[in-house]
Amino acid sequence: MKDKLVRFGVSLEGELLRKFDSHIGAGGYDNRSKAIADLIRKEFVSDLFEKGGAVAGAVTIVYDHHRRETVNRLLDIQHDHGGIIISAQHVHLDHDNCLEIVAVKGPGAKVKALADSLKSVKGVKHSTLSVTTAGK
Ligand code: NI
Repeated sequence: MKDKLVRFGVSLEGELLRKFDSHIGAGGYDNRSKAIADLIRKEFVSDLFEKGGAVAGAVTIVYDHHRRETVNRLLDIQHDHGGIIISAQHVHLDHDNCLEIVAVKGPGAKVKALADSLKSVKGVKHSTLSVTTAGK
């Protein structure tokens, strides 16, 4: 069941509010309420992540397709973290590069440990971890 919306007043310095409006306009928001709600959620997700609460997210990895040891190492690491990996999608980016998107869900610390292991594999050109709420 969707929670009822509650109105509340916020007092801010004019300059800060102008900067905020300009910032959220650039982010595509058409009203402050949604922008403020997203900021609050982002803060909670970051807190959850730091305290080891359950998060969901994606690790993206771009790596050299020709390095077989890289491919094997990435697969070994993923097999060792089966408990927090929901799915993995492989994209052959071009002749030389592969992109892998690994969907994860679990305690923040475990998700971060997996992302760090994948990132540190030799042959990985770039890797990012994006986390969001697990919905709870
Ligand atoms: Ni590939």
